[in-house]
Amino acid sequence: MKAQFRIATGLLLLTVLISLGTYQGWWNLHVPAGPLSLIHWLGVIGGAYLLILVPVYSYLKRRTPQRRGTLLKVHVFGNLLAFLLVSVHVADHLGGHAPAPGTGLASAILMVAIVAFGFMLRFGLGPRHRESWRVLHVGLSASLLVVVGIHTLVNFGLL
Ligand code: HEM
Repeated sequence: MKAQFRIATGLLLLTVLISLGTYQGWWNLHVPAGPLSLIHWLGVIGGAYLLILVPVYSYLKRRTPQRRGTLLKVHVFGNLLAFLLVSVHVADHLGGHAPAPGTGLASAILMVAIVAFGFMLRFGLGPRHRESWRVLHVGLSASLLVVVGIHTLVNFGLL
């Protein structure tokens, strides 16, 4: 558990650092990669991961309760990586290197809150409010999936 806490904290610090560098324009991730640029792929992959893997986790943890420990590890670290990808993508837009983020900003704000509540829930921070962290984490996730879905449809010109 201590090792997981350290890795999760390290991933969050890495997310802050890479997002800050992207925001400031210390490097250029607008490298063409097929139909999109690298920076766009990061957002697409992070968003798609959330849209698909969060409901899958919810289903599998009930379907195979004996695998709950492994599933939770995948949930925590997979989503932290998705958070990193989406944060870098949003930082690029906020830094003015791409158009204003629009619905992407709403997704980003929700994601920060969800990751923070998930972190407290997983690592037992503020244990007296554990039930509140759970309700906020799960409740905001439902809104996130809707907002990310709308964001995707808008940006692919389907809405
Ligand atoms: C944006 C990313 C995330 C989303 C959308 C999300 C969503 C969810 C959802 C929907 C559940 C409830 C599953 C169910 O009961 O059906 C859940 C549970 C949980 N999540 Fe997350 N989560 C995210 C990231 C994280 C992170 C980064 C952590 C920890 C650092 C975390 C820790 C937990 C914990 C401890 C639970 C409760 C364990 C359980 O009973 O399933 N989550 N999450």
